[in-house]
Amino acid sequence: MKMALLPVLLVIFLSAHAPLQSEALNVRGPRLKSKTFLSPPFLLNPGSVSNKFYYDIDLPRGHLALKSFDAEVVDENGVPVPLHETYLHHWIVEPYYAAKNGHGLPEERILKRNSGVCEDVLWQYYGLGSETRHTATWVPDPYGIEIGNPPEGYEEKWFLNVHAIDTRGVTDKLGCVECRCDLYNVTVDEYGRSIDESYTGGLYCCYDQTQCRMKEGFNGGPRELFLRYTVTWLAWSDAVVPVKIYIFDVTDSALLEGKTEPACKVEYQVEECSSENRAKNDCVDVMVTKQVLPRGGDIVFGKGHQHPGGIGASLHAQDGRLLCASMPTYGTGTEAGNEAGYIVGMSSCYLAPGTATVRDGEALTVVSNYSSERRHDGVMGLFYILVAEHQAEQQQHLAPNNRQALCFSFPVSWCLPAWLSGYM
Ligand SMILES: *[C@@H]1O[C@H](CO)[C@@H](O)[C@H](O)[C@H]1NC(C)=O
Ligand SMILES: *[C@@H]1O[C@H](CO)[C@@H](O)[C@H](O)[C@H]1NC(C)=O
Repeated sequence: MKMALLPVLLVIFLSAHAPLQSEALNVRGPRLKSKTFLSPPFLLNPGSVSNKFYYDIDLPRGHLALKSFDAEVVDENGVPVPLHETYLHHWIVEPYYAAKNGHGLPEERILKRNSGVCEDVLWQYYGLGSETRHTATWVPDPYGIEIGNPPEGYEEKWFLNVHAIDTRGVTDKLGCVECRCDLYNVTVDEYGRSIDESYTGGLYCCYDQTQCRMKEGFNGGPRELFLRYTVTWLAWSDAVVPVKIYIFDVTDSALLEGKTEPACKVEYQVEECSSENRAKNDCVDVMVTKQVLPRGGDIVFGKGHQHPGGIGASLHAQDGRLLCASMPTYGTGTEAGNEAGYIVGMSSCYLAPGTATVRDGEALTVVSNYSSERRHDGVMGLFYILVAEHQAEQQQHLAPNNRQALCFSFPVSWCLPAWLSGYM
């Protein structure tokens, strides 16, 4: 009698909630915690650049599952600042380990990188730019990004890098945002190394404290700004399935050139289209590459990152099938979050387990399209994915009927047994 009651109760519960099933997967229940933090302040004068690294930033501590990380630039009154005044080139967060008995010295930090796929760059857990206000970072249930599990003798801390460009009063807002070297009158990089003449724009020309060309007679004072970020998380538990973070970069041509070590350049240039192509109304720059995903599994989330001029990015499996396409949204007004001419959001993909399964060592194709109506400097074509690996025990569990238990974080962490999820 008792045995029979449980399925009955579950069925009642399920039918009462049936219309909400898909939403239920993402309901922010009471187990979910959320907190908003402010970065240290950064000062910007009209036309100036701030590129700062903050160590040991405020973040929830403990063994946790990160569920989302959203951010935007605000002024000292907490008012969101529009991109046409302060362009948020990027913000990046990444954990590192610091020795518990250390002195906080840089050489004592062990950066904890994501799972790939570039070698020397793009190690971050999260990194977004102008699109940050309307781009999802929510990790779908039952998944989570595991944090706060440092090796013995270490504690986990986080650094934040914020790169922002003040474009009040500049002669060419898009040019300053694209870090054109002539507008910054820069011929050497941050470390005093001379910049090759063929390099016309990108991060080497808009480092911290550089100054973009101003209109004559513009008046505007310094501004104190902050990155305001909101983190949601759950306590880590067996109910959370870990996901690995991978960032793909369309500029890595190593595999296509037959090399084994990835060579991510992060930025590239888009040449203006030829008059021939213009006549054919074909001013699209298509950049394509292949990169290897070291460990396969289910891709459960994906999104691209592009700069102004971007018109879409995609990721494809080795057999060519589309895994995720991410499209930019451009603003149409002047208010923060809707700035005309700027990418204010990138669409993302939420992929049900089994719909985007990739093998260990599969070579994925990365595509990044830009409008070449005009030339663009320092653009990017990145693709961020979360992968749930097929764990041995999970596979055993899957074997009999090939179905996974369905788990929720609302109202408490709980899972439907695999046999029952077959009926949903
Ligand atoms: C650009 O920099 C050079 C030297 O670094 C300086 O002599 C020149 O005046 C600068 N031009 C402008 C427009 O600021
Ligand atoms: C990129 O451009 C190519 C060629 O125009 C097109 O076939 C493809 O669908 C585009 N991809 C995205 C993600 O917009």
